[in-house]
Amino acid sequence: HKVDMNVDEITKGGYPHYMLKEIMEQPDSIFNSMRGRLLYEEGISKLGGLQGYEDRIVRSQRIIISACGTSWHAGLVGEYMLEEYAGIPVEVEYASEFRYRHPIIRPEDTVIFISQSGETADTLASLKEAKKKGALCLGVCNVVGSSIARESNAGVYIHAGPEIGVASTKAFTSQLVVLSLITLLLARKKNLSLIEGQNIIREMQSLPEKVKKILESNDQIEKIADEYMSCRNFLYLGRGYNFPVALEGALKLKEISYIHAEGYPAAEMKHGPIALIDENMPVVFIATKDAVYDKVISNIEEVKARKGRILAIVNEDDDYIEKLVDHVIRVPKTINMLQPILSVIPLQLLAYHVAVKRGLNVDQPRNLAKSVTVE
Ligand code: G6P
Repeated sequence: HKVDMNVDEITKGGYPHYMLKEIMEQPDSIFNSMRGRLLYEEGISKLGGLQGYEDRIVRSQRIIISACGTSWHAGLVGEYMLEEYAGIPVEVEYASEFRYRHPIIRPEDTVIFISQSGETADTLASLKEAKKKGALCLGVCNVVGSSIARESNAGVYIHAGPEIGVASTKAFTSQLVVLSLITLLLARKKNLSLIEGQNIIREMQSLPEKVKKILESNDQIEKIADEYMSCRNFLYLGRGYNFPVALEGALKLKEISYIHAEGYPAAEMKHGPIALIDENMPVVFIATKDAVYDKVISNIEEVKARKGRILAIVNEDDDYIEKLVDHVIRVPKTINMLQPILSVIPLQLLAYHVAVKRGLNVDQPRNLAKSVTVE
């Protein structure tokens, strides 16, 4: 018994939980996802697993992304970046719906299957369906040699290292890194200029340092968690690239703290969720300085007018939002397409600390499994 405990403690690397260890590992896991894959001189990425398929992907009429859970949220960010930079129409589907709803899939389509484990039953079944219909099937997996990695025509490993905590953290940020690499590759083969490609590369290379800075806010986030740990509902709001981050933040909290949380695109608030807002409703805004920043400010003001308690994720140089809200957590600025990689990290830590303070088993939350291999 004693030996087992020691092994467990060693693999947790001194952290009380795998989840915290994996959150803290992100400067390295993000670096590992892009290591050897960025060619600065040419302003492009190099993905060995896609070799021989690049032209077919560039010529796709449409890209479909199929996934579940956190991987599906990564897919939503992928949709925004691929449409913005590669100019290919993208649809994101829940694998469970995709496999059963008679989707139109053509041989000119590329379907990307995102799965940390590479074993999720619904994602695997949707892959078999798309393959049967002749689409080019790409896997974006973490586990090497997993079923989805083997069944797909080609793919890219995220190389995040083993993820043990049931709630996905470092796999999510690495999935976003790989989707950025795919976006960069396709964009450069289409219209993106060398200068713009190099700018994306520089921003990607600076991510690990920026993530380190965010992780220094751990103590601050733990204190904030004290104030929110007893709440029964949470709303997470973001727009643009930060909308999927709102969904992911809410999912993290639900999964490990069992607090009801919903993510919404901030502007949809007025079509329902606004009715829930009173002085007891905490609202987490992801409000980094991007194209929709001013719009998010108006949404914050609407919540404030109804006395909601607000926690905002803002950029380091933001001195406006802190005057409006109860708490701010600061993250460095990067280009819009990469901002989710940074803005999600405080939300992972918030969910973690709230769950720990509630005395819950964060690594193995009730009713959930790391890899869902049944329907
Ligand atoms: C389970 C896990 C989630 C994960 C989802 C998809 O529900 O608890 O954290 O996001 O499966 O898993 P996959 O391995 O396909 O990414």
